[in-house]
Amino acid sequence: MSRRPEVRCVEEEGPLGKLIIVPKGLENVVPDTTAISGVDPKGEHTIYRGYLITDLAENANFYEAAYLFLYGQLPCEDELREIKRKIDTYRAQVPEKLFDALKLVPATHPMYYGSFGVLFLGQYYAPEWRFDDDFLYDHALRLIAQLPVIFAAGWHLSRHGTFIRPDPGLDHPRDVLRMITGRTPSDLAARAFEVSLILYMDHGFNASTFTVRVIGSTLSDMYSAVAGGIGALKGPLHGGANEKAIEMLLDAKRRAEELGKPLEEYIEEYILEKLKRKERIMGFGHRIYKIHDPRTDVAAKYIRQLKDGEWWLKVLKRAEEVMWREKRLPANIDFYTAVLYYQLGIPVPMYTPVFAMGRVVGWTAHYIEQVKNNRLIRPTEKYVGPTGLKYRPIEERCRR
Ligand code: ACO
Repeated sequence: MSRRPEVRCVEEEGPLGKLIIVPKGLENVVPDTTAISGVDPKGEHTIYRGYLITDLAENANFYEAAYLFLYGQLPCEDELREIKRKIDTYRAQVPEKLFDALKLVPATHPMYYGSFGVLFLGQYYAPEWRFDDDFLYDHALRLIAQLPVIFAAGWHLSRHGTFIRPDPGLDHPRDVLRMITGRTPSDLAARAFEVSLILYMDHGFNASTFTVRVIGSTLSDMYSAVAGGIGALKGPLHGGANEKAIEMLLDAKRRAEELGKPLEEYIEEYILEKLKRKERIMGFGHRIYKIHDPRTDVAAKYIRQLKDGEWWLKVLKRAEEVMWREKRLPANIDFYTAVLYYQLGIPVPMYTPVFAMGRVVGWTAHYIEQVKNNRLIRPTEKYVGPTGLKYRPIEERCRR
């Protein structure tokens, strides 16, 4: 059952015609149509190009899902071979000059390496931007293949001065996880990581995708649009929440140990204290899913199979019960991937970059959809500041 609030739009006469004043945060506002992904009318399921997200995450591999997003249908064998060949080849072809440039970036949050590296690639590959299909799809595949390498290399270079080079002989998710952790992952770990990337690939007009579409609507290039998407995703109300969620869970775990209490019980007390202080519990709440985020079920299946899985699920379920009882808010995917990435041994500051490694598929697909049927996205403001002020020279206006 959906508990979406009513749309509260107000119409008003403006200087150039009727103004439609929409809810703050654009809640329930539909600025355009898309055939890429969306949530069903009841707000229960996410649909990726006609398929349930849960179906694809369970059954498809990374290349099939990426193909579906970009080209609108699942690939046949030759198409699958070709997209795999391209992504694996491009992954190993990050320009050497970019690695040199990353060495100069000070140790910082790894999301910055992503936007820096993507803008570098834009200048390197395509200083003259074009809009023909071959060009757009080729650059989408380069971004999908190379963004993970940039994040992983930036992270390791800033900490150890060296990085792990891509291996085009490995499947994309397995190689990316290897570049991040420095270990060749087990089949289970590689699949869990792959599934999380598919779960993260897209989600309608979420904040970062909308940012990408706004930048695309100015007919700027795809690299600039993706750099903007990375900036939007970094915020704790969006992709940054998976990093904040694990920090919170680990803080609760530390305190529970100090108090000699089991975390699966102490988590209730911990959350209640935070709510009392009016803090947000990261990994809870969602603009679209008001009852349940179906992506969490798929992530839970892999959490269960990895280290301490049953115990982690008890902690997560207890936290969910408390948050539902107190705030009527469900857990979102970030609460679950936070634990999954911890189990996979991914360094905490790399959690949001991993989100971006999946979401870049959706960003590039949305960029292409936007520019192929474009109109500049440019809303109108309702100015509420003062009017009628008159400029006075500094000596007059600052006289005391
Ligand atoms: N913890 C505590 N209270 C919350 C939370 C939360 N996680 N989320 C919302 N609320 C409360 C707000 O404080 C607010 O209460 P108030 O009306 O008493 O002030 C009310 O719920 C409505 O909050 P909004 O921010 O207006 O709700 P919205 O639907 O816009 O929020 C959002 C969605 C931003 C995701 C929010 O739930 C949140 O901040 N969650 C935590 C961050 C997070 O997990 N982000 C990941 C989103 S999913 C993704 O990006 C994949």
